[in-house]
Amino acid sequence: MFRLASRMAKPKKRYVCQACGSVSHRWQGQCADCAEWNTLVEDAPATVFSMKHDLSSGGRAVEFVDLDKPGALPTRQPTGLAEFDRALGGGLVPGSAILLGGDPGIGKSTLLLQAAAKIARDGHGVVYVSGEEATAQVRMRAARLGLSDAPVKLAAATGVRDILTTLGALDAAPKLLVIDSIQTMHSDTIEGAPGTVSQVRGCAFELIRFAKENGVALVLVGHVTKDGNIAGPRVLEHMVDVVMSFEGERSHQYRILRALKNRFGAVDEIGVFAMAGDGLEEVDNPSMLFLSGRDEPMAGSAVFPAIEGTRPVLVEIQALIVRLQSGATPRRAVVGWDSGRLAMLLAVLESRCGLNFSSAEVYLNVAGGYRLSDPAADIAVAAALISAMADKPLPARSVWLGEVSLAGEIRPVAHGALRLREAAKLGFDRGFGPSDVKGGSSSLSYDGLGQLANLVDRIIGNS
Ligand code: TYD
Ligand code: MG
Repeated sequence: MFRLASRMAKPKKRYVCQACGSVSHRWQGQCADCAEWNTLVEDAPATVFSMKHDLSSGGRAVEFVDLDKPGALPTRQPTGLAEFDRALGGGLVPGSAILLGGDPGIGKSTLLLQAAAKIARDGHGVVYVSGEEATAQVRMRAARLGLSDAPVKLAAATGVRDILTTLGALDAAPKLLVIDSIQTMHSDTIEGAPGTVSQVRGCAFELIRFAKENGVALVLVGHVTKDGNIAGPRVLEHMVDVVMSFEGERSHQYRILRALKNRFGAVDEIGVFAMAGDGLEEVDNPSMLFLSGRDEPMAGSAVFPAIEGTRPVLVEIQALIVRLQSGATPRRAVVGWDSGRLAMLLAVLESRCGLNFSSAEVYLNVAGGYRLSDPAADIAVAAALISAMADKPLPARSVWLGEVSLAGEIRPVAHGALRLREAAKLGFDRGFGPSDVKGGSSSLSYDGLGQLANLVDRIIGNS
């Protein structure tokens, strides 16, 4: 007995970053992984036995099954919002867990309340647990949305034990369970305040287990950090089946619902909504939404033909260049695009094309609150920058696409011909991009360019 006790390792202290979930063995002001400040919190120590545990006996036998055994996916439950279903890959899968992230105030609770009401009106059991708002607040929102009559079971609660006890006592498990938000939930079996990594993880684990055992579709609302990651708990992303993010600028009307991970479907379809006075409206043809609607071409504006899943979306990119008189460090500000990518593009324009941005402030904006991550947008951004610098509008009704390499080459993009065809359908008649794209349509004349320098000549020179 004595030997055993002496060989039991002293539990080590560990500190967990509340932003990314990484573990460190000493406290630091800044997380070494995600570089957030003051996010390390001491976690309850795991008991560590160094004593050899032989796990090769004493367990239950695990059953092996064939891959082709029947037992297909249970039928999906439509949410009543076609755009939500589209982003999910065709509705909610019973027994699955979905994490929905997004900036505060973007409309997560509104979206879920609308979906919950539609499903409840179709006669299915729906439970909506709000940990952030009082029931009166949720009721007010429901009244504003015209959903007060929907038989949604609404509760304000934060204790997971209370929630699961209550759900277990219902005659039938609900079809949909919404937890708004997982950061407000608390489990009395775990130490720590709500929102800490161990609480979030533990609560999510219990809720997901309930969902799987009872065939309930579970939606967990998750907060996001400043840089847009779903807060905390990176670990949560591994625990759930689907991770979705609800994006947009709060000052703009449009919202995009995007799946970042989906164990039951593709992740390239988006759902597009417009926030109106009476809730989220679905936008089923988003192709022209992110254009500013001006007919006159303006310097510094370029249109990029984006593809979201199966739908084309034309996006306007706006650049503004301000020459500085003094030697102050010039600002670079970006909305809707990656600032690292902008820095790279500016560096390539400087070193390969001889343009000088070093004494100029550069502002870049993707219109309408759209967020671009497609590398094929490089050329459209470059065209907007060059056009702003030369103060020369780009040709009217033109689209720009292509990826830029560090060597200044214009690289091919996915679905080039499809993008051009879709742009042509929407009334665009000129395209510029990598040379290997076959001009997808007779109504659009396409110029293939090999190098970024050719693009500069094309825009600045009169060719
Ligand atoms: P909400 O769903 O509470 O956001 P989240 O849960 O993501 O924090 O949405 C809040 C915002 O939406 C709020 O700023 C007001 C706006 N809104 C409308 O414009 N119209 C509406 O009908 C509703 C319900 C909200
Ligand atoms: Mg909310």
